[in-house]
Amino acid sequence: MGRIAEVSIQQVIAACDIVDVISTYFPLKRAGTSFKANCPFHPEKSPSFHVTPSRGTYHCFGCGEGGNAIGFVMKYEGLPFIDTVRKLASKYGITLIEEAGTPEQEAATGRRVKLLAVHREIAQWYHQLLLKSPLAAPARDYLKARGLTAATARNWTIGYAPEDAGYYHEWAREKNFSEDLLIESGIFSLKDESQPRRGCYARFRHRIMFPIRNDHGDVIAFSGRVLRTEDSPAKYMNSPATPIFNKSEVFFGFDKSKRAIHKAEKAIICEGQIDMLMAFEAGIENIIAPLGTAFTPHHARLLKRHTDQVVLCYDSDNAGYKAAAGAFTELTKEGIFVRVAALPAGEDPDSLIRREGVAALRQRLDDAKDFFDFQIDLRAANRDLSDTRERMKVLRELAENLAKLKDRPTLDLALTRCASRLNIGPDELRKMVQAHLAEQKKYSDRASERESSSSGPHHDGPDPDESPPIQHPGIRLLLQLALTDSAARRWLVAGADGPAWSGVAGGEFLQRILDAPLDPAEPSSVATWMTTLTPAEASLLSSFLHKSPASTDGLTSARHAVSSLRVSAVTSEIDILQNQLRSGNPAPEAVLSLTTRLITLKKELNVLHAKLREIPEGS
Ligand code: CTP
Ligand code: MN
Repeated sequence: MGRIAEVSIQQVIAACDIVDVISTYFPLKRAGTSFKANCPFHPEKSPSFHVTPSRGTYHCFGCGEGGNAIGFVMKYEGLPFIDTVRKLASKYGITLIEEAGTPEQEAATGRRVKLLAVHREIAQWYHQLLLKSPLAAPARDYLKARGLTAATARNWTIGYAPEDAGYYHEWAREKNFSEDLLIESGIFSLKDESQPRRGCYARFRHRIMFPIRNDHGDVIAFSGRVLRTEDSPAKYMNSPATPIFNKSEVFFGFDKSKRAIHKAEKAIICEGQIDMLMAFEAGIENIIAPLGTAFTPHHARLLKRHTDQVVLCYDSDNAGYKAAAGAFTELTKEGIFVRVAALPAGEDPDSLIRREGVAALRQRLDDAKDFFDFQIDLRAANRDLSDTRERMKVLRELAENLAKLKDRPTLDLALTRCASRLNIGPDELRKMVQAHLAEQKKYSDRASERESSSSGPHHDGPDPDESPPIQHPGIRLLLQLALTDSAARRWLVAGADGPAWSGVAGGEFLQRILDAPLDPAEPSSVATWMTTLTPAEASLLSSFLHKSPASTDGLTSARHAVSSLRVSAVTSEIDILQNQLRSGNPAPEAVLSLTTRLITLKKELNVLHAKLREIPEGS
């Protein structure tokens, strides 16, 4: 597999119904011929995110994001272009024509495809064993005892890994999977890394298997729970890192809970996958779990794309408190607001649902406290805070966490609240926070010094990706017409009275649009071409595409716009000449040529104004 053929990309774009694509992530409300929603790319309370199905594009008037369906999925899912095309192609059942890539690329893609196939197949195999095999009777009994129904097992493709490696080998032979591939998948493991000859063993034996899925819902790894505690000290065992799995970048259940997270505008994070899926099945669907306890910066960034509010619902024990504090640190760095739900001592979400019902868990979630209140309550429960020394210790701990708050008003609010709860003047606490901030600054200054003194180009000035703002209304109109109006486009391509837009901001961009093989009557050709643009360019154009057409007669509008551009050009040249004549102290022979030019320009300006009066602006 290599490059996807241009025709295939066209085909995918043409097949994409942008409303259909975006609605798989969050609901869109119809508003006339277009659709609206709250923008997923910036926080807002009223919808400025518009989708125009007839053009196949979206645009947010709040933050300026915009583009076509492919661009949307790329941005929303954080996927590269090719992965996005593949994803949409499979959604619409399109077989992509592939042009060969380099042998290395071919090999890497081939491997990923094979690894996914192994995971897909073995997840089904484990699942069928769990449902039907006599071998899995203890597993079925165990799940039943935990209140996990067959429907839940089906919904999550829960499986059973057999004890005896013989079953694995039989299955692999039947499916034609090589031992090497199974080792690479982490299903098998070498007995001795340094001596591959000594053979391998099955990693998961006599365990309940939970498939771990990526955002698209493909199985990429497993987490296996022991059935006999004496088997292994590790209650859960995960697949090792592979080319398709990195546990610090995945949330368990995210492929299923993403939509509920959008809807609720917050995510609940719990520690365990059983907690996650039991809460989900009980109707609390906006829930996810990291795999194991470590919450990474990558997790926080991933979540930030979907929500800016989190409720931590960790086990009510010391490990849980520590994990919650770690998650707070990472989430806060991304500007995510964190609350903590306090569970009864020793309970986790799963045990609480079983013991007291889902309503009890809901209540705890609704009662979730601000992270700092939770911290104070926690410490007040096992320390005497009337003791000044104890109180100072708690304050120092709080100050360290307060210093992590990025947003000034949030910090002020939390600081005042903490100070009042611990009976200390806010200024004193602020000093403690500032000490931490100074510490942090020293640290980050040192880091950036290191960065700037290291080799490699150092960019100063504007971002190369940022195009200059296009101010001239004439250029803006022409950009719009060149993409949306066939007659106007033909006229502009044919020469349009000479290049009136050369040297004007946006003029080169307009020329590029005119040189591109586009047909405004064929929106998919526009959409395809737009995938070649930088994000800044794409969102600029999408904003033009989403404006209602300037007039019913595009050609007249184009003429008008070109004339108005010329007026601007001529007017500014006249200004320059007049300035030179007045204050430049020109030589006598220069005066003559300057005035001649000035007269010519003024005549041209008159003609242009007459022309502009002739062409009605829009109609
Ligand atoms: N975990 C792990 N390895 C372990 C123990 C735990 O990776 N040896 C991870 C698992 O993802 C687990 C989570 O940490 O789901 C929370 O662990 P814990 O609270 O101990 O387990 P529970 O989720 O309560 O599991 P169970 O209810 O099945 O006992
Ligand atoms: Mn549990």
